[in-house]
Amino acid sequence: VPPSSPSLPDGFELSTDPGRLDRAWVHRYLSEDSYWARGRARTTQDRAIDGSTSFGIYRAGSGAQVGYARLVTDGATFGWLCDVFVDASTRGAGLGKALVAAVTAHADDLGLGKVMLGTGDAHDLYASFGWQPLAEPATWMSRPLRGAPTT
Ligand SMILES: CC(C)(COP(=O)(O)OP(=O)(O)OC[C@H]1O[C@@H](n2cnc3c(N)ncnc32)[C@H](O)[C@@H]1OP(=O)(O)O)[C@@H](O)C(=O)NCCC(=O)NCCS
Repeated sequence: VPPSSPSLPDGFELSTDPGRLDRAWVHRYLSEDSYWARGRARTTQDRAIDGSTSFGIYRAGSGAQVGYARLVTDGATFGWLCDVFVDASTRGAGLGKALVAAVTAHADDLGLGKVMLGTGDAHDLYASFGWQPLAEPATWMSRPLRGAPTT
C-alpha cells in the first residue's frame, strides 16, 4: 500500500525556513507539556534546532506557528525524526499527518538508508507513511547518558 500524501489543510503553510520558527513557542510546549522532553533547557532546544532540519506549520495570515517537527540527519545516510507536535487548538485537522508526510518525503528525497523515531502511542500515524517497528531490535543499542544532560 503506497503511503498516502495528505495535502496541507487550507489556511496553513509548511516551511523548513529556520528563520520562521517561533523558538520560544517550540521550547514552551516541549519543556512543559510534552511527555518526552519535559524540563529540557531552552539552550539545549536551541542547539537541537541548530543541528536539525526543522519543519514548521504556520497560520497563513498571522504566521503564528501551530506545528513543529525536526529531522536530525547527516543528509546522506541517517535520519532521526523527533519533537513532533501540533498546537492543541488545531489538532485533528490533518496538520500532524502533513508534518509527518513532509519529513518522510524529505528523508526519501535525501535517499536516507536508515530513518528512525520513537513514539509512545502514535505508531499508527507513522505507519500510514510507511514506518515500521524495528525488524531486528536485538541488533540496535543505545547508551543512556551518565550524569545530568547538558543545559
Ligand atoms: C500526534 C499529533 C502530532 C497529531 O497531530 P494532529 O494534527 O492532531 O493529527 P492529524 O489530524 O493529522 O491526524 C492524526 C492521525 O493519526 C492518528 N493517530 C494515531 N495515533 C495518534 C496519536 N497518538 N495522537 C494523535 N493522532 C494519532 C489519528 O487517529 C489520525 O488518523 P485519522 O486521520 O485516520 O483519524 C498531535 O496529536 C500532538 O501534537 N499530540 C501531542 C504530542 C505528541 O504526542 N506527539 C507525537 C510524539 S511521537
